[in-house]
Amino acid sequence: MNSSLLEKDKIKTTLVDQPQSFGYEDTVLYVEQSLNLTGTAHLYGAKNAVLVIMASLLLTDGQSILNNVPASDDVLHMIALLQSLGARINFDRINHQLMVDTSRLSSFQVCASIMKRMRASVLVMGPLLARFKQADIASPGGCVIGLRPIDLHINNFAKMGVEVVHDNEYLKCTTIELQAKTIVLEYPSVGTTENIMMAAVLTKGTTTIINAALEPEVLDLIDVLKKMGAYISIKAPATIEICGVKELKPIEHEIVADRLEAGALLISAAITGGSVMVDNARADHLDVVLLKLDEMGHDITTQHGKPGIHLTANKYPKAVSFKTGPYPSFPTDLQAPMMALQTVAEGTSEIHETVFENRLVHVRELQKMGAQIEKSGDKVIVKGIDKLYGTQVIATDIRASAALVLAGLVAEGSTIVTGLHHWRRGYDALEKKLVALGAHVTVRNG
Ligand code: UD1
Repeated sequence: MNSSLLEKDKIKTTLVDQPQSFGYEDTVLYVEQSLNLTGTAHLYGAKNAVLVIMASLLLTDGQSILNNVPASDDVLHMIALLQSLGARINFDRINHQLMVDTSRLSSFQVCASIMKRMRASVLVMGPLLARFKQADIASPGGCVIGLRPIDLHINNFAKMGVEVVHDNEYLKCTTIELQAKTIVLEYPSVGTTENIMMAAVLTKGTTTIINAALEPEVLDLIDVLKKMGAYISIKAPATIEICGVKELKPIEHEIVADRLEAGALLISAAITGGSVMVDNARADHLDVVLLKLDEMGHDITTQHGKPGIHLTANKYPKAVSFKTGPYPSFPTDLQAPMMALQTVAEGTSEIHETVFENRLVHVRELQKMGAQIEKSGDKVIVKGIDKLYGTQVIATDIRASAALVLAGLVAEGSTIVTGLHHWRRGYDALEKKLVALGAHVTVRNG
């Protein structure tokens, strides 16, 4: 074995031993008013694509390579999870390249401590059932943004012939043989669509998912599964048909650029009165978001058929209303950052969160900064004001952390954002990208 491999093996050991919190308890994001952010930013691969694609590698036997992988904490959690199942992993964080070798998988049981670190852990269920006919999982953790049950996953696996037994904190899932079925989703759940699809690719016969989620990250997973040798087709308006094959082969793949990181960077330009180019952002993944930014009066330039979105801020932006929903509607993951933008726009904005029932906790924190927001159930009314004021605020989930940092960029004085572990779970050093655009954001001991 050469020395570079030995070096990477050290990374492997380090990641397995990482404590759950990564030691951020005493660390905060310190944001000072930073107007007129200007420059060019480049996106890493989407967190929501890379996590499920990493899980999908359990379907193969051999070494796969993923490129443009963000070194966010959720990726590190998924590395630890795959390692606990026997996968061998090298993560070259500098070049954002992840190598996963699944030829010596030795377990189908995901330990509870790893499972509770993030909800995306549930995504190994489908691949484990397809490969081993068994999967033991604990109740998944993740952002506290609603009840987030996994009933759609469990009930639809049951239709495919999976028996699920509750055993203390574990759900023990077994099947004699997975059966291809027509699955009708009452809601186009992203995770359920992905899980069923990953089980179906190695299931004899044709599985049909009706009312499937078709988020760009789901499409990236489909690209990966097809590269592995799966037969998958999409039929209008939202049906996915999967024709099972006997085996799948390892792949090399570049993860789709993160539309949610793109949204945060474009909003950083809009909220500070600046001008930012996100050079690999895909406009076709952000249609409704760009529509709303355009309605606010911001100048948006995209290149037809090529990646790259440039936003130059309207200095007197108009407030806009929006409602979140499954793709291609306004993404729930950009609701909080977009709300931060409305707090300093001219006029009144009505925002309706329809995807998660508890994804408005950032309202209270924005109010601490002086924002005029009234909340009623899953709706809020934001009255735009001239100024926010920096203070200490708490990030309660990944996207709330982005909203509070963005609000801090225009707030008078300093904003101290606690809950850094959420920021780190979702983004790979996004603060450095903001700093490169002229922002004053530092990570400090609180
Ligand atoms: C994924 C994304 C998350 C995003 C969300 C919606 C990842 C890792 N996370 O989460 O960032 O905000 O899509 O775009 O990709 N539901 C049930 N029962 C279930 C499953 C879901 O009731 O079994 C409900 C959820 O509570 C929620 C809604 O369906 O209210 C949407 O959830 P879902 O689309 O499954 O989101 P996730 O896959 O968890």
